[in-house]
Amino acid sequence: MTNNRLANVWTHLSEAIIERGEGIYVYDQQGQQYIDFTSGIGVTNTGHCHPRVVSAIQQQASKLLFGQINCVIPSKSVELAERLQPLLPDGLDTLFFSNSGAEAVEGAIKLAKVATGRTNIISFQGSFHGRTAMTMALTGSKTIYRGGFQPLPSGVFFAPFPYAYRYGWDEQTTVNFCLNELDLIFRSQSSPTETAAIIIEPVLGEGGYVPAPTAFLETLRDICDKHNILLIFDEIQSGYGRTGRFWAHEYSRARPDIMIMAKGIASGMPLSAFAAPRDLMEKFTPGSHGGTYGGGNAVVMAAAIATIDAIQEENLVENALRTGQYLTGKLCDLKAQYPVIGDVRGPGLMVATEFTVNGEPATDIAKSISKYCEKHGLLLLTCGTYGNVIRWIPPLIATPGQIEDALAIFEEALRQSI
Ligand SMILES: Cc1ncc(COP(=O)(O)O)c(C=O)c1O
Repeated sequence: MTNNRLANVWTHLSEAIIERGEGIYVYDQQGQQYIDFTSGIGVTNTGHCHPRVVSAIQQQASKLLFGQINCVIPSKSVELAERLQPLLPDGLDTLFFSNSGAEAVEGAIKLAKVATGRTNIISFQGSFHGRTAMTMALTGSKTIYRGGFQPLPSGVFFAPFPYAYRYGWDEQTTVNFCLNELDLIFRSQSSPTETAAIIIEPVLGEGGYVPAPTAFLETLRDICDKHNILLIFDEIQSGYGRTGRFWAHEYSRARPDIMIMAKGIASGMPLSAFAAPRDLMEKFTPGSHGGTYGGGNAVVMAAAIATIDAIQEENLVENALRTGQYLTGKLCDLKAQYPVIGDVRGPGLMVATEFTVNGEPATDIAKSISKYCEKHGLLLLTCGTYGNVIRWIPPLIATPGQIEDALAIFEEALRQSI
């Protein structure tokens, strides 16, 4: 079987043609097993084909596949909104459902603009928010996501993200610098009165798995309060237990006005959402935002409800924290042995190993490690503007033993690549 009928715009970490998945593993057509520590870029957080999720999908499929939400109200959509409620930040009591992450970001930005009557958005260098026109405009992680598609929607301004390791400064110096630069944007490019929202990933994803310091998020909150700017957290990759808290921003005291989620929310079924307080959500004129499928696919909703059940009953958030500490500890040991690992960072199971030589990004080494791992049955993605970061995103069900298996392949890859 070849894949030459698939568009070549899709890059592939592995050319393996996958037939089946179970837990942390996927299997190709020849039965070759791969440890999937990409989790499909943070989607299969409950593992592949979690029995609970599969059973919910099977049961729902024979009852109702789809109830178009402008025509009727599917009970599963109401149920999911109710189940999500206690998990959301205080006050964010209303949800809008859509299919992809980018679509939810688009919706959140539309809400911010219509609610404030302001035109501009501040995003961050290194951020990734999607591949539709507006979300490309908000994305600053790599030129490939924008190149050839410009000009993009206007009114987006980029502030530096507090990436202390990259700047070579301590955290406080980096936070101060980034806040001063944000202030400069307010004075030189987008005044606070023109700024509808600041959008930030509490842990930068594509941009290199960099957690925003809590002081930075908390100061952004104060700045937004001072100027009536809406603060949007994009928790598409960092949310749903990934970091050892249900939402990554819970490490700080900062809370968003609008929060966006996707990926891990339905264990692989296409679902995204943004949440806001009802009075804010009501700034949308009814009918002014929507889509055929969003909120209407009852099978997807059933999978999302079962995903919450699995996360809660199997204590997967706690597991992400514990197993993440184990993984990070082991990677720190390797860092002490191999100076090419410049930094190990990240909460829970959202962990970066950044490769540098003489302080400069070592892209080839990261690529070579990822390639070696793939050849030896371990799927690990790179990220970062320079592609010099290996990101560890195992399913939240991963055990220390499975982490050890992956680390053994990784260490060998490291030895072969330096
Ligand atoms: C933080 C973040 N926002 C938005 C997106 C876009 O989501 P999607 O690819 O589902 O459109 C992604 C995808 O990687 C992401 O990581």
